[in-house]
Amino acid sequence: MTLRVPATGSTPALALRPWRADDAEALVAAHRDPALRARTRRPLRDVAEARRWVTRAGQGWAAGRRFSFAVCEVAGTSERLVAHVLLKEVVPGRPDAEVGYWTTADARGRGVASRALEAVSDWAFTRFAAAGLTRLELLHQIDNPASCRVAEKTGYAFVEMLPAQPPWPLDGHRHVRLRRTPPTSTAALPRPRRAVDGPAATS
Ligand SMILES: CC(C)(COP(=O)(O)OP(=O)(O)OC[C@H]1O[C@@H](n2cnc3c(N)ncnc32)[C@H](O)[C@@H]1OP(=O)(O)O)[C@@H](O)C(=O)NCCC(=O)NCCS
Repeated sequence: MTLRVPATGSTPALALRPWRADDAEALVAAHRDPALRARTRRPLRDVAEARRWVTRAGQGWAAGRRFSFAVCEVAGTSERLVAHVLLKEVVPGRPDAEVGYWTTADARGRGVASRALEAVSDWAFTRFAAAGLTRLELLHQIDNPASCRVAEKTGYAFVEMLPAQPPWPLDGHRHVRLRRTPPTSTAALPRPRRAVDGPAATS
């Protein structure tokens, strides 16, 4: 299963797919970044730890509860790991779930996190519509303005402050994105002239 985000004038296309064992070295390299380590409860120190992490990520997919995407920039036939986006706490019948993300240090500041999060959010609302998913939550600490900006750019509105509580030493923000509900009747609406392009899911 791969989600695809088209290239823009200045940024390469993205492919979002489940993690694979051969991502382990790139995963360890990403976790060497102090900014990422500061936001991760269990930084990955070596390839063996990264392989175990990838195995657990696969188990999350298999259980239908936790969906970890490796995000790669695509140039021709080559792919380069640039980010991780996670959808977690998915429970059939429960209306809410949570998202999380990081980008590699060298990929920041060019819209990778927001484009990838947009693709996963759209996918989640479509994939789990029948299971009742209507609300995605995004939490970040107050010392993370870049994450706050990603949330706002991606349609996750700020809803409330969260008090500090272990393991998070600082207060935080809760942002929420709601599923867009289709109009109850389309009879009065003009027919679309052409399909709207957007991230496409292929399996
Ligand atoms: C947060 C993070 C995922 C953002 O990734 P990214 O690919 O750089 O995000 P984007 O390029 O889509 O957007 C970043 C936005 O934050 C803004 N930004 C960056 N640093 C900022 C700062 N110190 N103050 C305010 N805004 C900031 C950028 O200008 C950009 O906004 P713009 O497009 O309006 O200019 C990345 O910095 C990261 O991985 N950090 C470490 C892990 C982490 O914090 N994960 C999130 C935990 S909640």
